[in-house]
Amino acid sequence: MLALDRVGKTYPNGVHALSRFSAEIKLGEIIAIIGGSGCGKSTLLRAIAGLDRATSGTVTLDAATITAPHAKIGIIFQEPRLLPWLSVADNIGFGLSDLPADARREKVTRALVRVGLADKANAWPRELSGGQAQRVAIARALVPQPEVLLLDEPFSALDAFTRRDLQDHLLDLWADTRPTLILVTHDVDEAVMLADRVLVMRPRPGRLFEEIAINLARPRDRNSPHFDNFKRRVLTALDRSLDRNVPDSEAAANAGEAMWW
Ligand SMILES: Nc1ncnc2c1ncn2[C@@H]1O[C@H](COP(=O)(O)OP(=O)(O)OP(=O)(O)O)[C@@H](O)[C@H]1O
Ligand SMILES: [Mg+2]
Repeated sequence: MLALDRVGKTYPNGVHALSRFSAEIKLGEIIAIIGGSGCGKSTLLRAIAGLDRATSGTVTLDAATITAPHAKIGIIFQEPRLLPWLSVADNIGFGLSDLPADARREKVTRALVRVGLADKANAWPRELSGGQAQRVAIARALVPQPEVLLLDEPFSALDAFTRRDLQDHLLDLWADTRPTLILVTHDVDEAVMLADRVLVMRPRPGRLFEEIAINLARPRDRNSPHFDNFKRRVLTALDRSLDRNVPDSEAAANAGEAMWW
């Protein structure tokens, strides 16, 4: 279980980027975080990753308080951030240096097959398309079998077709070991396609506004009326989160038990 308890962040320049963000996230849950630009989504993800500590509140994974990068928590950014001097296979195996060479090779090969890039093992990162490079980044993050994988707008630089393809790949990979996924996205369709719960944030300071449970069985059908219904709910929540005339308490009233304070 990943527990966020009133996580807050004020940057040294005085920007209050995140305020009292609380959530309890079960192992294997898929959470989408959505909200206007600057509402603290990346700040929250970095705090969970232990990359940039919260200034108040706590992040705990199982019994451990997270204050620095942790082996059980992986992160994927908007750009793939592959190491240009290593082959695709070596990029994927980068975090597995503790394993004997054979075991490492086997895991890397399996991951490459899983993301559909078996033929690119010896390619250089510069020889990949954007979508292929992001698939390598996903494989690299998943081979050490993290308990939690954080994704900060991982598909936003890709065209719509590639993005859908990668969403499917991500779900496939997730099904292998079922880590917790926390995905920041601007894309309502992506949030409803992937998430068990969508957390809508609002800005100044960044905080949780509304939580929407996506009670749709997988695999999900983007063309079903239920899917559309959830998309409309998320869109409405987003609109309301950006409307300064809507107080936080109204979202709480709407979401009922789903709110955390
Ligand atoms: N290193 C930093 N130092 C000072 N202020 C920062 C820093 N990083 C972010 N901020 C500020 O904190 C607030 C939240 O930023 P953050 O990047 O978390 O938002 P976001 O929701 O991820 O936005 P976007 O959707 O544009 O990626 C913003 O006002 C931003 O300007
Ligand atoms: Mg961001």
